[in-house]
Amino acid sequence: MSERQGLVSLVGAGPGDPELLTLRGKRRLEEADAVVYDRLVNPELLEFARADAERIDVGKSAHHHPVKQQEINDLLARLALDGKRVVRLKSGDPFVFGRGGEEQRYLRGLGVQVEVVPGITSAIAGPASVGIPVTHRDYASSFHVIAGHRKRAGHELDWDNIAHMEGTLVFLMGMESLGRIVGELLANGKPADTPIAVIQWATRENQRAVKSDLRGIETAVEAAGLGAPALIVVGGVASLLEDGDDGGDAASSSDSAGSGRS
Ligand SMILES: C[S@@+](CC[C@H](N)C(=O)[O-])C[C@H]1O[C@@H](n2cnc3c(N)ncnc32)[C@H](O)[C@@H]1O
Repeated sequence: MSERQGLVSLVGAGPGDPELLTLRGKRRLEEADAVVYDRLVNPELLEFARADAERIDVGKSAHHHPVKQQEINDLLARLALDGKRVVRLKSGDPFVFGRGGEEQRYLRGLGVQVEVVPGITSAIAGPASVGIPVTHRDYASSFHVIAGHRKRAGHELDWDNIAHMEGTLVFLMGMESLGRIVGELLANGKPADTPIAVIQWATRENQRAVKSDLRGIETAVEAAGLGAPALIVVGGVASLLEDGDDGGDAASSSDSAGSGRS
């Protein structure tokens, strides 16, 4: 073990556009001896790290888990106990479906110094990047961020409750289950004409989005060829998605609307 005390900074990388990283996140990257990063993190952010900083890819995709969570925990602990300044770089905010809470608890349990540098979550910035506010006085006075992937170990979402919420619903990790999400919302009483938008690669150069209603969204997504990673936004605010050049009635799409990228 080194004399110098190590530190693990759980840093939110933001939704993808490098300019949406926080100033503290950038500073921690510049100071880092090692950067441990996830699959959705924009690789451009790694350029903020020193040339001699270690860059370790522990990216996970839905069906492929190259590095197990316990191995990531152990790696972070080992680097910090060696006295290194470690940036654990996660997409969006590290505490929004990012397992940042688990890593923090594990490291603190070992006496490792940990700090959290919050990031801009895709759950809010994704919709915003195409002109959709998650709250709006005319449409929604709350918003709910929900993990849309398949139920795990018998823990099914409370669809009756979800379908009756007044606020905007934002599903992450939901593209593989889009049909099921739409089906459950309809079966539990959400009107078929409820607006819904899907935004893929939000804030990135390749951002694309479509809007429709619950009845038509699967067809619209298929026609546009959208897939993961994407946000699914359900509620009146979804109708505010800025139309692209080919904006239509039941479904419209947008390739770059309002991404703010220059
Ligand atoms: C494991 S979660 C991590 C969420 C992240 N911690 C956050 O706060 O944005 C990964 C999911 O976030 C969503 N996501 C993250 N970045 C995105 C982006 N730029 N565009 C669309 N969806 C994104 C997708 O639903 C993806 O499946």
